[in-house]
Amino acid sequence: MMQRSLSASTSAEQEAPSIEGASTSDKRLPRIAIFASGSGSNFQAIVDAAQTDPEHFGAVVALLVCDKPGAYVLERAKAAGIQSAVYTPKQYENRELYEQDLLQRLQAEGIEWIVLAGYMRIITHVLLEAYPGKMMNIHPSLLPSFPGLHAVKQALDYGVRVTGVTVHLVDAGMDTGPILAQHVVQVEAGDTEESLSDRIHAIEHGLYPAVICDVLAGRLAPIRV
Ligand code: GAR
Repeated sequence: MMQRSLSASTSAEQEAPSIEGASTSDKRLPRIAIFASGSGSNFQAIVDAAQTDPEHFGAVVALLVCDKPGAYVLERAKAAGIQSAVYTPKQYENRELYEQDLLQRLQAEGIEWIVLAGYMRIITHVLLEAYPGKMMNIHPSLLPSFPGLHAVKQALDYGVRVTGVTVHLVDAGMDTGPILAQHVVQVEAGDTEESLSDRIHAIEHGLYPAVICDVLAGRLAPIRV
């Protein structure tokens, strides 16, 4: 028997859907949802780009989906005036039921694109079929090297001289899917996971909003799908 996520319904209902503050022109821009599980520095970078110049960015960040109650990204959403929906996936019988609940919310909000930004879950067929080719992810390595958790540590442990950032369309795998953009980051002697992560994050914050903007405008597509 599925248990509905209490935190999902509570949070979702507490923060009423709102596009207050959006200009008339914003309303015809595609509405995107950002999924995040943690600190949300990429969420912030995307929101900053979208709110600074909505017309140029080409989309409205309409919703944060968070699977970790208490994650700092929720504070960022509140400060930016973006509604959030908090879910607790382990309260569902399986991943599909969790995503079906999520999908209802996304559809109710008129979400057209999903942007994963530090969302540490595999996506199932439920969302993949509802958003075919309309879901992106960012990962802190040059994929297909070092997928999964702790990608920066994996790269350091391996001893690579370059690593980087990949933005890709999402498929059913873990950090797989057609590549949209990559950026190289040099590994320096004496790098720690923290120092290398800091440089990777700095690249991510510029790259991800630019890629989203280009993909939504139809200027960027994978070389191979
Ligand atoms: C980012 O570095 C992102 O590339 C990574 O999580 C971090 C989230 O940071 N994503 C993955 O590892 C996906 N497999 P943030 O919460 O500060 O945006």
